[in-house]
Amino acid sequence: MVRKRTVTISQEYAESIINTVREPLIVLDQDLRVVSVSRSFCEFFKVKPEDTVGQLIYDLGNKQWDIPKLRELLETILPQKTTFNDYKVEHDFATIGRRTMLLNARQIERVLGKERIIFLAIEDITERQKLDDELRKNLQLLRDTGKMAKVGGWELDLSTKEVSLTEEAGRIHGVETGYKPTLEEAIKFYAPESIPALKATLKKTIETGEPYDREFLFIPSGSKDKIWVRSLGKAVYSGGKIVKLTGTFQNIDEYKRAEDELKKSHQALRNLTGYLHERLEKERKRIAGELHDELGQILTALKIDCSWLIKNPSSKDQRRQKTLKDMTSLLNGGIASVRRIATDLRPPLLDDLGLAPAIRWIIKGFEKRTGIKAKLVVQPTGMKLDSKVATAFFRVTQESLTNIARYAGATKIHVIVKKEPTMTMVRIRDNGRGITEEQAESSQSFGILSMKERIHSCGGTIKIIGRKGVGTTVESFVPLGKRNCLPGHKRSPNIKKLP
Ligand SMILES: Nc1ncnc2c1ncn2[C@@H]1O[C@H](COP(=O)(O)OP(=O)(O)O)[C@@H](O)[C@H]1O
Ligand SMILES: [Mg+2]
Repeated sequence: MVRKRTVTISQEYAESIINTVREPLIVLDQDLRVVSVSRSFCEFFKVKPEDTVGQLIYDLGNKQWDIPKLRELLETILPQKTTFNDYKVEHDFATIGRRTMLLNARQIERVLGKERIIFLAIEDITERQKLDDELRKNLQLLRDTGKMAKVGGWELDLSTKEVSLTEEAGRIHGVETGYKPTLEEAIKFYAPESIPALKATLKKTIETGEPYDREFLFIPSGSKDKIWVRSLGKAVYSGGKIVKLTGTFQNIDEYKRAEDELKKSHQALRNLTGYLHERLEKERKRIAGELHDELGQILTALKIDCSWLIKNPSSKDQRRQKTLKDMTSLLNGGIASVRRIATDLRPPLLDDLGLAPAIRWIIKGFEKRTGIKAKLVVQPTGMKLDSKVATAFFRVTQESLTNIARYAGATKIHVIVKKEPTMTMVRIRDNGRGITEEQAESSQSFGILSMKERIHSCGGTIKIIGRKGVGTTVESFVPLGKRNCLPGHKRSPNIKKLP
């Protein structure tokens, strides 16, 4: 009686344990028939306890459990080992679909040496497995893209002063995956000239939490050559305190070298353009001089001869007299043309009197030719400028006026030539249709490119800005004295309506 009660109590005790556990649990006898199932088992596999007890496990729920792997576990492995742990089984269940499960089993003797019972715990890891697969895929993606972009990641633990590197960061370092240098060891990978900057950068981020984005020279392990790397870093806080720094690490050597090459070839082109501009000016000066002096003088001499012939007729031949008069007027035209061509090529005013009189002179011609009203302000009058700078401003003005005449459809222009102690400025404003940004920035706008190059080669800056229907402003500044002492030319040219 007592014994029976004890058995009942221990059975109840066992059952309440079974029902408390969240994982589905099943108890089998030695013939693999169900002794009992936990509540969670019934819920999970959508079965009723009364439909399970006494059934052969393989017959449960229309033979859903007739799984070859399970058979092997229960019939072969369990008799030998009495337990098995974490056996992964994938199976399609009619009621709940495809599932991945971990099976754990334990065989215990119920009555000494006689009956055995088997506990089988089933853990559904389908979701976890999905997450694991997703995570694994993402990690692989990160690894692959990191490798392609040559971008790695790193983390510095401020409490242990240890640096963790991702696979790609390790590759850039030339070390094995999993290598964890101390901060001191990690810094030794950098070229001596970059170490002070790196230390200062890290110190600042550790102290202030300010993120950084810097380029350093780096020497990978086992290499003698320095490469450029880009390092981005930021602070990681915990409880309001900075506990870690983390960031990316990128090999930008190829890009940096290509950029250097590009800079060099850009500079070479600039030099060439500057040289060509200078040659062009010299050549124009020479041709203008020769046109004016030689051709001009010959034409003038011819004219004098013609005049003498007219005044001293050898006969009363009317036709001869008329021809001579026609010749004289042709010569007058010729002389004027030669003068105009020569001055257009290179106005002697620019060399003799300077920028302001030369600009005044072309503006006069512009007004006369186009009928567009022009206002010129020169401050102060009688300024003296370096000849290269004066030529640059003059050509910019000339090109701007040509463009206004051709494209602006303007009725008024306003030109300011201003010299201050630190810089000289020329601003040409029109009230036309307004240049568009694309036109001003196009690599096909050769007139504008040439203006920009001329001003840049004097160390200056130029802005060409248009507003639709309001007009265009071309504003150029050249600093005085040293080439690189540019004035703070930040403000945009004011595109106000012309009065
Ligand atoms: N003052 C202006 N007003 C309106 N459009 C302009 C003005 N100046 C230049 N443009 C536009 O910018 C373009 C580029 O000018 P530019 O470089 O001098 O080349 P080009 O005179 O040979 O066309 C012009 O074709 C014109 O469309
Ligand atoms: Mg032009």
